[in-house]
Amino acid sequence: MQDKILVLDFGGQYNQLIARRVREQHVYAEIRPYNKISVQEIAQAGYTGIIFTGGPNSVYDPASPHYDPAILDLGIPVLGICYGHQLIAWMAGGEIASAGSISEYGKVEVHTNQVKSEDCVLFKGMPEKSTVWMSHTDYVRRIPDGFEVDAVTGHCPCAAMSDARRRIYAVQFHPEVTHTEYGRQILHNFLYDVCGCSGDWSMDDFVARTVDKYRREMEGKTALCALSGGVDSSVAAVLMHKAIGDRLTCVFVDHGLLRKDEGDMVEQTFRRKFNINIIRVNAADRFLGKLAGVTEPEKKRKIIGEEFIRVFEEESGKLGKVNYLVQGTIYPDVIESGAGDASVIKSHHNVGGLPDVVDFDAIVEPLRDLFKDEVRAAGIELGIPYDLVWRQPFPGPGLAIRVMGEITEEKLSILREADAIFREEITAAKLEKETNQYFAVLTNGRSVGVMGDARTYGYTLALRAVSTDDFMTADWTRLPYELLAKASSRITNEVRGISRVVYDITSKPPATVEWE
Ligand code: XMP
Repeated sequence: MQDKILVLDFGGQYNQLIARRVREQHVYAEIRPYNKISVQEIAQAGYTGIIFTGGPNSVYDPASPHYDPAILDLGIPVLGICYGHQLIAWMAGGEIASAGSISEYGKVEVHTNQVKSEDCVLFKGMPEKSTVWMSHTDYVRRIPDGFEVDAVTGHCPCAAMSDARRRIYAVQFHPEVTHTEYGRQILHNFLYDVCGCSGDWSMDDFVARTVDKYRREMEGKTALCALSGGVDSSVAAVLMHKAIGDRLTCVFVDHGLLRKDEGDMVEQTFRRKFNINIIRVNAADRFLGKLAGVTEPEKKRKIIGEEFIRVFEEESGKLGKVNYLVQGTIYPDVIESGAGDASVIKSHHNVGGLPDVVDFDAIVEPLRDLFKDEVRAAGIELGIPYDLVWRQPFPGPGLAIRVMGEITEEKLSILREADAIFREEITAAKLEKETNQYFAVLTNGRSVGVMGDARTYGYTLALRAVSTDDFMTADWTRLPYELLAKASSRITNEVRGISRVVYDITSKPPATVEWE
């Protein structure tokens, strides 16, 4: 059976990062909120190890997340991180205190392996002193019986502790963040030396296993996939095509709001390269017709979402009975947070609503367990072109939310050309990896310009580039002035209708990434 680590989420901000770090070490990890899984369920699920995440609380706060101490007696190795460290101490009978003025936040030097006679396996291969990332206001003042202190800092008398006999380890710092110099090593030691994992999680295995699974389960059945050209739906489509071949049909709705040449690129990639059954629906007139005269952003989104469903419904209706609907849902879309009951499903980011209107036997979500970087790795494994696999995010409503005010074919065409130039310049400067999303926005403002001897009165175009980990917050990317100068000069010279170019220097919050 495949090794499986449970990341038991107590509401820490790094819960996803912990799971990704584990998977980077070729061990499968899944996140479950602490209040959604019982100790009995954990015992039965066959976990190889458990990691307690951090959390914003103090263990003595009655409202803070607690867990059944029986978890420590299951015989499954445990690693507690930050709040998880204190929770273990508390559950096992230790004592926690407020660190008060000596709370640690940021990089701190930790001393390991010098506090007891036998070296702690968690710190194997590490020097005695190293830098770790701390963020705590409470600390473990007295360790529980059966535990030993494994590390200290200048302020923290128990930066790590363990009960090696029961294979329970805990660290006050965050091994999952890159600021912790030997964080990877620590996680590696826990996974391989403490839990005895075999490293059986990799993307080539994933692809082979998943293809095999669906080949068997969907024998003789048909499936439909809504292809957007984005990374997730593309990887899902190619994967399913490998499993069921021509019994998969992809419907690609071209709403006329795509970037320059994008529709053709998507069609060619899937039809020519992969020989996938693809129906391209050129529905630009329909969408633009519905959007005529509409200026309110939310209304635009709603119209596009509804029209999309209608077109998809019509197309799938033409195909007769289809057994399955394939969706490119990925892990961050489905995980719930231990911080509360609110789930973090980003409804507006997905092609929602389809299952309600089309009659399928079931939905298939082959990427449901994967993080974005794993989806990309699977895409490369499947032979999907690099440019598509590393494509920057593009919103479902497309350029409609980047053309301010009313959408017209003329405005769309101006924006397409300007956006293409900006992207070309970023590529030419080899800066695609330095920024996570970059695009142009056609504002509804016009301004006066001069060209030759003539006065012009064209649109103001905004360029936007953001740097972010998760798109929940983002900073504007400090693109080099030379690049901005070149893009601006090319755009005003080559695109008719634009007389001014500005660069958006607002972070998120307070702004959002998109302008509408
Ligand atoms: P915001 O504007 O909310 O964008 O800061 C965050 C990220 O989400 C993308 N985005 C969307 N993606 N449908 C999508 O598929 C949408 O309606 C949508 N709105 C925003 C945006 O491009 C950015 O990556």
